[in-house]
Amino acid sequence: MARTVFACSACAHESAKWHGRCPGCGEWNTLVEERQAPARGGAPRRAAKAGRPVALAEVEAPALARLGTGIGELDRVLGGGVVPGSLVLIGGSPGIGKSTLTAAALGNLAAAGRSVLYVSGEESPAQVKLRAERLGPAALRVPILAETDLEAVLATIEAERPDVCVIDSVQTLYAGGLSGAPGSVGQVREVAGALMRVAKERGTAVLLVGHVTKEGALAGPRVLEHLVDCVLQFEGERERTYRTLRALKNRFGSTNEAGVFEMRDSGLVEVEDASARFVAEATLAPGSVVLAAMEGSRPLLVEVQTLVAPTELVPPRRIANGVDRNRLALILAVLARHAGLSLSSSDVFVSLAGGVRVDEPGADLAIALALASAARGATLAAERPLAAFGEIGLTGELRHVAHPDRRVAEARKFGLSPLAPGDGLGTLKEALTAALPAALQAA
Ligand code: TYD
Ligand code: MG
Repeated sequence: MARTVFACSACAHESAKWHGRCPGCGEWNTLVEERQAPARGGAPRRAAKAGRPVALAEVEAPALARLGTGIGELDRVLGGGVVPGSLVLIGGSPGIGKSTLTAAALGNLAAAGRSVLYVSGEESPAQVKLRAERLGPAALRVPILAETDLEAVLATIEAERPDVCVIDSVQTLYAGGLSGAPGSVGQVREVAGALMRVAKERGTAVLLVGHVTKEGALAGPRVLEHLVDCVLQFEGERERTYRTLRALKNRFGSTNEAGVFEMRDSGLVEVEDASARFVAEATLAPGSVVLAAMEGSRPLLVEVQTLVAPTELVPPRRIANGVDRNRLALILAVLARHAGLSLSSSDVFVSLAGGVRVDEPGADLAIALALASAARGATLAAERPLAAFGEIGLTGELRHVAHPDRRVAEARKFGLSPLAPGDGLGTLKEALTAALPAALQAA
């Protein structure tokens, strides 16, 4: 059996035993079990032959023939399909649809004549079959291996040589040499390292499924982020219909892309016309504004809903769903200071329709307008909902955001002409004046 050591991830101190506190640097919880590197000490340093550096222009790079998964949104997030020999980590909370997405992707690849393998460490073959039956005949063609022993999985990949292999999940596999429990940092790192070597040697693309902790970080897999080629994050609330898939890291494409899915009886369905749905569902009630947001390189119209209600609570509630809480605090402060709208004795709720999350400052203006409309009980919509985008600065000025033309074009498709910085709108106050009926404007 291979010897292992416990190495501190902060100071690299090595110890034969596990300690809660590193004897080297005194940090807590930093010791991670690792296989001991074969001893090199003692042997005289051999004279290595010097390598020959090559100009990058002369390096021959094979064209990357990507494998389409048949799921357009997934391919887009990956940068155009799965790259052979790449290692992709797909993270998300339990029940979000990671197994569903990967099983469907393998089914499509198998139907397209690719060899695939689904390794399930969490579910029995019967459970996986039940899911596949809902996904359709293609998914039933996927060969499955229910196994948690890393060595057995590696041997199977060597023997089967699949083009694409899914490991569901990386936290359930264990490497025999290490004493740590499956899912521990040492185990996850060892498992992913071994799979990466196979992926690169055999040209097998490996999709690692990873669970996310309550705090939202990829549990264990955080340590994998530098190792893998792509990190995809599957987000959304289990109870809601819409889920988004985002690239947090991508060596073969942009990290700005996001895909929108909907969970149905027959699996995850791509939502290509998300804007159309959100605009159709948008209410014309006070507190509602359509935000012209950017999801990566794609514009997305999504409804911002707000509720402002009097409260005795000190401090009052500030509940934000789908937008950053700190950003909301900033918008409330600017509304109070520069637009004469103080909500200090009101509870404030902000939410994006459909469980969508938007992480860009371009959402500020839409949120501010929705809040003003909710506070005054005045609807901003005439026949069509009001659309807006733009960042709000600390001095109450409106700031330009990226891709204004694409946002406007998307809004125009649905007959909306968004309020945005520029064209006589320089401050939040001016935007409120333009949007709210004169009688309801703040003093
Ligand atoms: P799953 O893919 O198993 O999630 P994960 O692997 O991320 O834990 O399934 C997610 C949820 O989706 C599960 O609660 C059942 C539901 N579901 C459907 O609504 N329709 C379907 O066709 C499938 C396969 C699952
Ligand atoms: Mg699963």
